[in-house]
Amino acid sequence: MKIAMVASEAAPFVKTGGLGDVMQALPQELSKAKGNEVCLFLPYYKRVKQNAAIVVEAVGSFSIEHSWPESYVGIFRLKSRRKKLQVYFIDNDYYFGARNTIYGDFDDGERFAFFSKAVLAALYYIDFKPDILHAHDWQSAMVPVYMRALYGTWCPNTKAVFTIHNVEYQGWAESSFFGSVLRLPDSFRDAMTFDGAINVMKGAIEISDIVTTVSKTYAEELRYPYYAHRLDGVLRSNWLWGITNGIDTSVYNPATDPALACPFDDMAGKQKNKRALQEEMGLDTASDAPILAMVTRLVGHKGIDLLCHIGKRLMERNVQMVIIGTGERQYEYALSALAREYPGRFAVRLCFDSAVAARVYAGADMYLMPSKSEPCGLSQLIAMRYGAIPIVAATGGLRDTVPAYNPESKEGRGFTFQSYNADDFLGAIDRAVGLYYGDRAQWDALAYKDMCSDFSWKLPAEEYMQLYQEVLSK
Ligand code: GLC
Repeated sequence: MKIAMVASEAAPFVKTGGLGDVMQALPQELSKAKGNEVCLFLPYYKRVKQNAAIVVEAVGSFSIEHSWPESYVGIFRLKSRRKKLQVYFIDNDYYFGARNTIYGDFDDGERFAFFSKAVLAALYYIDFKPDILHAHDWQSAMVPVYMRALYGTWCPNTKAVFTIHNVEYQGWAESSFFGSVLRLPDSFRDAMTFDGAINVMKGAIEISDIVTTVSKTYAEELRYPYYAHRLDGVLRSNWLWGITNGIDTSVYNPATDPALACPFDDMAGKQKNKRALQEEMGLDTASDAPILAMVTRLVGHKGIDLLCHIGKRLMERNVQMVIIGTGERQYEYALSALAREYPGRFAVRLCFDSAVAARVYAGADMYLMPSKSEPCGLSQLIAMRYGAIPIVAATGGLRDTVPAYNPESKEGRGFTFQSYNADDFLGAIDRAVGLYYGDRAQWDALAYKDMCSDFSWKLPAEEYMQLYQEVLSK
């Protein structure tokens, strides 16, 4: 099967969040299946261009019409020995190569519409006619639309798959964007229009053959206004498949992770990392208190408000807390204040650094993820792989990947709370802390069980393959 994947980020080239991880691992896993050929398309951002470790070769260049009569498109291909997975970068200095930003520019709508149009032109140029054209999130949502609008005769049998990683970001624009930038035939206006404006994610949902999202529970939740950020009606009338993400278990492997003080594969090894983390974070090393951790963007929907709300009460328990991340000022201030008030017990690092993050996962006993909504969430999977037991809000992918632990039957993987409420969150933490102090052998057995759970991409990739085959047989 020929599969073309399109996204705005993929590790290790460029990553701002979970999408980057998914786009690193999923194409790779799909390319392992017999008979598959996979191409991944990414923008050629400045930071990718300037990264000497990313070695590319020029494939070709041409112009397309997009906002301007002639916009340059360069195609570069990553030099790689893996012929079944090719990574292509779409070059244009005006939109990508001469800016420092990945997202957040005033003309993001125009930039990513250009990228989507250029990907189709590049597929045509390299003559890779995919069976499946799989686009991710709003930045590549114009891919299925341009495919149908402009390349219908070239690839009439190609099926379009669109995956929603986060419905919060939809690509809204004023209605004039349709004519001034998108320049689509008028027959596409209805599909692209929502509430009198242009919404590119809505366009992709309407036009793709299959729409998926990144967990089963989130697929269900997206039918309701609380989660769908106004698209619930659209999503109720389109079938939505949920396939829960995995993690790249060769990247996230505590036995080989070069960032760790002492790589480990058992609880004795984990204990050494706990001491090392206490030292690194300036926490009291004489204490055997459980370390609670978060590695997160400091934004509202990650539940940071709940943590700030219970911060002082949490410190009445015999626990230590480590939190790393950056984000909204109000949370950075509130957490820094807690760190000042409880030296040696509450550590905050306002940074994002994947090596520090790895050491936090490895050293923590408990991993907190009180998200208000969470399409899938990868941190809880990484935490479990590194032996930190998750305490999560039972929403989206958190609900699917962290079933509640039952101390009687020993089933489950972590501690959960149902409603988005600070006291319920604290209640779940108390249950975890209770087990930690009450029955350490059972605690360690649960952490070790989580470490050994299979969170690899093998099963999810098989589910995608089944879905692809199903849509192709229609
Ligand atoms: C988005 C979602 C996150 C998900 C990731 C990868 O970042 O917010 O829950 O894990 O995409 O699909």
